[in-house]
Amino acid sequence: MGRIQVLSDELANKIAAGEVVERPASVVKELLENSLDAAATDLRIDIEAGGRRLIRIADNGVGMLRDDALLAFERHATSKIRMAGDLFHIATLGFRGEALPSIASVSRLTLEARSAEEEVGSVVEVAGGKIIRYEDLALARGATVAVRDLFYNVPARRKFLRSEQTEMAHIASLVTHYSLAHPDKGFELRHGGAELLRAAPVQTLRERVYQVFGARILEDLIDLGMMEREIPGAIDEEGAQEPPVRFHLSGFVSRPQVRKTNRNSIFLFVNRRLIRDRLLLHALSAAYHNLIPPDCYPFALLFLDCAPEEVDVNVHPAKTEVRFTRGPFVHDFVRDAIRDVLTKSRPVSSVPVRSAPQPAAELPFSDFSERMRSARFDTGAVEEFAPPLTEEQRRELPEFVLRPHQSPAPRLDFGSASIAVDNTLPPAPERLKLRVPDTWRIPEGGSAGRSAEHGGAGRFAPAGAIAGFLHHRRLARRVVDYRPARGA
Ligand SMILES: Nc1ncnc2c1ncn2[C@@H]1O[C@H](COP(=O)(O)OP(=O)(O)OP(=O)(O)O)[C@@H](O)[C@H]1O
Ligand SMILES: [Mg+2]
Repeated sequence: MGRIQVLSDELANKIAAGEVVERPASVVKELLENSLDAAATDLRIDIEAGGRRLIRIADNGVGMLRDDALLAFERHATSKIRMAGDLFHIATLGFRGEALPSIASVSRLTLEARSAEEEVGSVVEVAGGKIIRYEDLALARGATVAVRDLFYNVPARRKFLRSEQTEMAHIASLVTHYSLAHPDKGFELRHGGAELLRAAPVQTLRERVYQVFGARILEDLIDLGMMEREIPGAIDEEGAQEPPVRFHLSGFVSRPQVRKTNRNSIFLFVNRRLIRDRLLLHALSAAYHNLIPPDCYPFALLFLDCAPEEVDVNVHPAKTEVRFTRGPFVHDFVRDAIRDVLTKSRPVSSVPVRSAPQPAAELPFSDFSERMRSARFDTGAVEEFAPPLTEEQRRELPEFVLRPHQSPAPRLDFGSASIAVDNTLPPAPERLKLRVPDTWRIPEGGSAGRSAEHGGAGRFAPAGAIAGFLHHRRLARRVVDYRPARGA
């Protein structure tokens, strides 16, 4: 007898559960996806003890025929694909026919379901992968799956479960974001009877974002609208051009001032499937390049939609990864679309423009500032009363007298007279009289405060005269020179 043997279905299901059911949130994900595939419009999720004790999801979808309710627990039993070709254009979230048997192999699971075509529904109870009850029951249309005692028969997995709050946070985040992907459906999440989320069906994603996050978060987000880019279709074997392929991007991204320390606020959906994808993450960070620091992350809720054949979802057992047929195109489309929106809504435009002028800076309180306040500066009046001066008036102008500076005491003292410094001043130059041209007389009642400050002479020198004065002063300074005495 050979050494190889085929594993039992029970064992195979447990192995599959190792990949598919990592923690309570993975169960919620699989059950939610089943309900969404069943076209449910109302989803109610009840959790107890962070999902360890109970995860129950009730929906109003198409439900199951009585025969199907049993078949659903067979390995690789699915209603979503039929042949190999279907794998290349999967339009549903599930397709592997693995989730229910995997979950049932590591928990005590009860399924209640009725389809619209049948009067009676059925109840199936499975524990550790074994069917222990199957009976007919009068039920409303739809399906309810209750998963109790998760990992009760896999102690190694149970040990790795985190605290109730942590597991619940994962579940809440997942439900919240699936609710964002389906605004037209109603979601309700309860933990231990307490309501955590209730989102009634709405028409737009914006309304759902408001329901889930509230107005304050919405203010920090930019609506991408519906962005589209198409790529020309390939030429087929007969030389005919195939129709163009269209990609759509919608959702919300945060303004650059929102900075997260990890990627937990980035939610990427491809054809409404929640995924983790490096290519899209890279495109997102490239869009924010230089807008936020390299070790910070934005909030992003991105929905990329395209034809199912453009994306391979059969990459990972948990269906959380995808591969794009035209990866570089998708990358650049997402990067450019987000970058465009970020550039157009720069923070400046979001700052409300003040209609009232801002008050001028106040001078600190002082005698000067007080005088400035009481003075009347009427430039019109100055122009009006500024006729050219007569010769007599010019003669009355004040004289500017330049005096050479007193030389300061020598700063260097070497303690001996070895370096003699000649401190004697050259003779003072003749008193230099400056005639100031174009000086205006300010009439009484004009700039009274100003003229009083200038010695009450009622005159002041214009800028040109002051420049001349400074020029002469510089000349006079040259005369004062500190030179060692000759021969020292
Ligand atoms: N809530 C539901 N309402 C109606 N039918 C359901 C529901 N949940 C499961 N089913 C049926 O049970 C089948 C098996 O579900 P299961 O989740 O195991 O596999 P799947 O969804 O087909 O693929 P996957 O393993 O990728 O999730 C589904 O194909 C579907 O026909
Ligand atoms: Mg499924």
